Amino acid sequence: MRKKIVAGNWKMNMDYNEGLSLFSEVINMVKDEVTGSQQAVVCSPFIHLHSLAQMAKGYHKVVIGAQNAHQAESGAYTGETSAKMIHSVGAEYVILGHSERRQYFGETNELLARKTDTALKHGLKPIFCIGETLTERESDQHFDIIKTQLTEGVFHLSEAHFEHIVLAYEPVWAIGTGKTATSQQAQEIHAFIRIEIAAKYGQEIAANTTILYGGSCTPKNAPELFAQPDIDGGLIGGASLKSRDFVDIVKVFN
Ligand code: PGA
Repeated sequence: MRKKIVAGNWKMNMDYNEGLSLFSEVINMVKDEVTGSQQAVVCSPFIHLHSLAQMAKGYHKVVIGAQNAHQAESGAYTGETSAKMIHSVGAEYVILGHSERRQYFGETNELLARKTDTALKHGLKPIFCIGETLTERESDQHFDIIKTQLTEGVFHLSEAHFEHIVLAYEPVWAIGTGKTATSQQAQEIHAFIRIEIAAKYGQEIAANTTILYGGSCTPKNAPELFAQPDIDGGLIGGASLKSRDFVDIVKVFN
């Protein structure tokens, strides 16, 4: 059975102390309130990773992730952070291909394929984001865009490597806008993604791949979204900055 995951993406929010208090609230609530087999992932800025990983020790329901990693192993890349470094502080996941990285930092599918390889090589599990813009949806290109992002970003992987990938469908028009995809719109794309995975890697791997929905997900809309057969959890931006909201979304799977 595939894993149910709710991942928080703090983006560039929370100074060091704010992040630590938010995370300790999350851990305490998850410990007392979350009963199922779902996993919560908190993807913080780099500065928090080590401390959060220490705080999360012993609670296997809560693990830590980064929001980006460089494609190179190491070297003269001032200001960058490598996958090996991220893994060495105890993070398990890394978000790759978030639309903000694609849009503001010019990350292409080809670059993201390299980042994915390096992350996997160093034991990180990528949460690989895909999704169309509003213009692409309105001109009916969304299926093609998703297919290209999959083909160029992750379908070069061997089966053994692909099994460590979590996918996140995040329609760009729904991110931080308060405009969620309807559960039907999201399910339609998730089902399409699973069909594409099956065509490439076979039914079993497709059935075992966790596919998250992201984009203005809240405690209010999460139950309906997560009830869809191909939606296995969420990637949560804004609502992950409030411990109560984040944990309520994690608890949807209770
Ligand atoms: P949002 O962000 O929940 O604030 O829309 C989601 C994301 O960017 O991952």
